[in-house]
Amino acid sequence: MADLGHDRFAKRRVHGKIYRMHEQPSAEDVHAGQRVYTRRVLSAYDLLVLGLSCRFIWRCPKALMLANYDRNVGARHVEFGVGTGYLLDHCRMGPEPSVTLVDLNPEALDTAAARIARYRPVKVRADVLDRVPLDDASADSLALNFLLHCVPGTWEQKDAVFANAARIVRPGGRIFGSTILAAGVPRRWPAPALMGLYNRKGIFHNATDDLAGLTDRLSERFDDVTVNVHGCVAVFGATARFAPV
Ligand SMILES: C[S@@+](CC[C@H](N)C(=O)[O-])C[C@H]1O[C@@H](n2cnc3c(N)ncnc32)[C@H](O)[C@@H]1O
Repeated sequence: MADLGHDRFAKRRVHGKIYRMHEQPSAEDVHAGQRVYTRRVLSAYDLLVLGLSCRFIWRCPKALMLANYDRNVGARHVEFGVGTGYLLDHCRMGPEPSVTLVDLNPEALDTAAARIARYRPVKVRADVLDRVPLDDASADSLALNFLLHCVPGTWEQKDAVFANAARIVRPGGRIFGSTILAAGVPRRWPAPALMGLYNRKGIFHNATDDLAGLTDRLSERFDDVTVNVHGCVAVFGATARFAPV
């Protein structure tokens, strides 16, 4: 990773790609981070991603993510980046929860909504890097599981996702999830090779995502931050502030 400057035009070059620290991610990069989730990919996602890749490549079994949901999910829950809805389907929800699904990809929204139809979820098609059209302090919990590594940009730009979460979750409510990191965590073979490939294809955008940056960003916006590392995955949780910044 090479620093190419320190001013507002600062850039970093990683894997031959230039990252401009203060520029908005391009629409093409945002689109690339979600377009892979077609119906066909979603039909294999639970087995290939949550089953095999989580355990054997990223080395964080999905049971650890599910336990994070069980610890944090609240009565009025918002899910950013819904995938197939597997974790929402299997976590321990209270009686009659209200669930809002937010995703840019309509096929993911439909797949997850059908899976948890028993909760009568509300679907919102939105880019989590833009202002998400949900009311302030309207949720008790918000999950962003395996989302941040799909979202383009540096931590500075991905902070827009945390800004949405900080606004939507009521003071004292919980935000939680997990993300695959490229630095500050152990990356055993074949994780670095696969991460490089996915970044080149635009499926992942985590070449500059490091553990310290994630912890710093969470701590700037939230209280009671915990970040636990399993393989190259950070599993995190935090509490929304009483005076959100
Ligand atoms: C790797 S899947 C994670 C699914 C699920 N949370 C899980 O843990 O299994 C990433 C999800 O984030 C969505 N996504 C990616 N970029 C997005 C963006 N900029 N705005 C909203 N959703 C996005 C994708 O469409 C996909 O549903």
